[in-house]
Amino acid sequence: MSARFRWLGHACVAVETGGLQVLIDPFLTGNPAAAIKANDAEADFILVSHGHSDHLGDTIAIAKRTGATVIANYEIAEWLAGKGLKKVHGQQHGGSFEHPLGRVKLTLAFHGSMLPDGSYGGNPCGFILFLKDGKRIYHSGDTGLFGDMKFIGEEGIDLAILPIGDNYTMGPDDSIRAIKLLEPKTVLPIHYNTWPIINQDAAGWAARVRKETKATPAIVKPGEWMDV
Ligand code: NI
Ligand code: MN
Repeated sequence: MSARFRWLGHACVAVETGGLQVLIDPFLTGNPAAAIKANDAEADFILVSHGHSDHLGDTIAIAKRTGATVIANYEIAEWLAGKGLKKVHGQQHGGSFEHPLGRVKLTLAFHGSMLPDGSYGGNPCGFILFLKDGKRIYHSGDTGLFGDMKFIGEEGIDLAILPIGDNYTMGPDDSIRAIKLLEPKTVLPIHYNTWPIINQDAAGWAARVRKETKATPAIVKPGEWMDV
């Protein structure tokens, strides 16, 4: 069965692949746009892009309840181990590792990464998931536009998951430039409309994607499943 994904609101995306549930940036509690409750989240793996609470979110509670392995940068992985999580896997930027869900590579992201208690959270990251069915997903994490997205595009991206909210991350204009560098087949916009400061017109953005790039915009309602 091919992989499928659903947007759970803000930057949280679930991917189902080969019978495994992967949860990226599980900020559900306190997320005005959350499609599910943290208690209902399933996870075999949780990927955390950086230390900010709108990404780390419910990671500890969900990992403790499900026994999921958390993949993050080394600093966040060690911090989570200190909070009592037994199954953490630290990586760093440019490094990849063959996990049961497929190979996971950490990519650059230009942002911050302070943890909720003020601890040093290392550098923020994005992820490339090389799924076992051959599909490749890029979740950029919170980031501005950067030219090396061209190299990420060279990996052959099926689904790119990009912020469009502006203020804290890329906005719509720079996301269009990112799509041109990444050349994904499909692009899912995230990190917008959670709060007024990151409100964006998703339909207007999608029209621009169709007109100005070769990618297909995935405008899904939070909670809706879509094939990768
Ligand atoms: Ni952030
Ligand atoms: Mn954020």
